[in-house]
Amino acid sequence: MAKVLVVEDDRVFGELLRMHLEDRDHEPHIARTLEQGRSWLTGNAPDAILLDHQLPDGFGLDLLKEIAAQPPFPPIIMITGISDNTLAIDAMRQGAYDFIRKPMDEVELQATLTNALQSHRLSRQVAAITGTEDYQVDLDQIVGSSPRILQICKTIGSVAASNAPVLITGESGTGKEVVARAIHHHSGRSGLFLPINCSALAENLLESELFGHEKGSFTGAVARKEGKFELAHEGTLFLDELGEMPASLQAKLLRVLQEGAFERVGGTQILNSDARIVAATNRDLGRMIEEGGFREDLYYRLDVVPIHLPPLRERMHDLPALTEHLLKKINKRQHTKIRHIADKAWRRLKDYAWPGNIRELENILTRSAVLARSDTITADLLAIPATREDPGAGPGEAESSAKPARLVTLDEIEREHVAVILAHVHWHKGNACEILGISRPALERKIAKYGLA
Ligand SMILES: Nc1ncnc2c1ncn2[C@@H]1O[C@H](COP(=O)(O)OP(=O)(O)OP(=O)(O)O)[C@@H](O)[C@H]1O
Ligand SMILES: [Mg+2]
Repeated sequence: MAKVLVVEDDRVFGELLRMHLEDRDHEPHIARTLEQGRSWLTGNAPDAILLDHQLPDGFGLDLLKEIAAQPPFPPIIMITGISDNTLAIDAMRQGAYDFIRKPMDEVELQATLTNALQSHRLSRQVAAITGTEDYQVDLDQIVGSSPRILQICKTIGSVAASNAPVLITGESGTGKEVVARAIHHHSGRSGLFLPINCSALAENLLESELFGHEKGSFTGAVARKEGKFELAHEGTLFLDELGEMPASLQAKLLRVLQEGAFERVGGTQILNSDARIVAATNRDLGRMIEEGGFREDLYYRLDVVPIHLPPLRERMHDLPALTEHLLKKINKRQHTKIRHIADKAWRRLKDYAWPGNIRELENILTRSAVLARSDTITADLLAIPATREDPGAGPGEAESSAKPARLVTLDEIEREHVAVILAHVHWHKGNACEILGISRPALERKIAKYGLA
């Protein structure tokens, strides 16, 4: 339940808004003049404000300026009958969250309000964290509550303590390394987590990195060097970009997996490693095997515990949580203070297909956070290509022409939101009621109505 202040002098329209808000389980307060709005605000903190422009005792824009002068302030949505673009631009520039024209489309209002409340909640959480100096972003944290991510977490939990090799597959940027680190973190192993990128080094260097070398074994080998297999003793060796591993090394790796034995380059002593192997690739190993690029026997040795990470576009439920997590991380690392994502920017993030997955999301958020001159990421800062649903979208476009990319029904929005929250709290209905601001029977009715299970 959100507390919404409505400043609107038109009685009929005011009542319409009241009914609309009460139907969505919000708690509206109607003020008919600027003065009434001001005095209510001295004792109350709304979650959002719906503001008319022409009022008996002045202009809504003036109240907007007063409120915006004292951040942090709740999202303010201007609703006005004036078809004046300069007013819209002015309102957005002064800090309005969005601008809606009368006659108002209820779907548009609901979509805007949902986004406004969501981003307000998000920004409060980010703000709370930006203020604390000793906050540490947990880099091993796997953010997300979509069913497939929960399944992956369960798998990690059940295999972490064993020595079984794990093969993580998924497109670039889906979080393969995050999962690998989580496996090590939960393994209870006392050794190190050592990543090695199989595509980054020339074949002979990769071999010496993995297995080490003896002094004088090749030009430049001035001293004996221990390889990652030795160094990861009692720890985890993460073979990243496994698909790029040259054939000769695939054979040597197979031997370590079969016998636990290897030799340093140029050495004769047989060494043993108990390093746990976690490998990752974005290549289709099955196809590579058919084409002769990858050893089938090695594949079966590594694919003991397969974990496949879905692309971000198949887990868009997690977009809010990931965005929040990444912004905290970015604020910390880049010393930025992003607290808001403008409505249109948020829609653009939701409409994009994310071919580069979470890494792309992180890059785009980082770039816009650094470029932002305020605490808000606006759509013009987002360097993402326009989507088909949103043909006008593109860098440089003004915030003020915001329109929902696709018109959806209120029920669709509600269904999606309730489902997201339930998944987020792992179906703890008490917590869901608290977040959604509705009673337990109301939640039960919605679960039944939308057939959520
Ligand atoms: N579930 C997640 N929760 C939080 N952050 C994540 C998650 N998944 C990925 N990230 C973040 O996204 C970025 C990319 O993740 P990661 O490096 O693990 O991807 P990858 O699959 O190994 O990508 P590549 O194939 O390009 O190497 C990292 O900064 C990581 O912290
Ligand atoms: Mg990686």
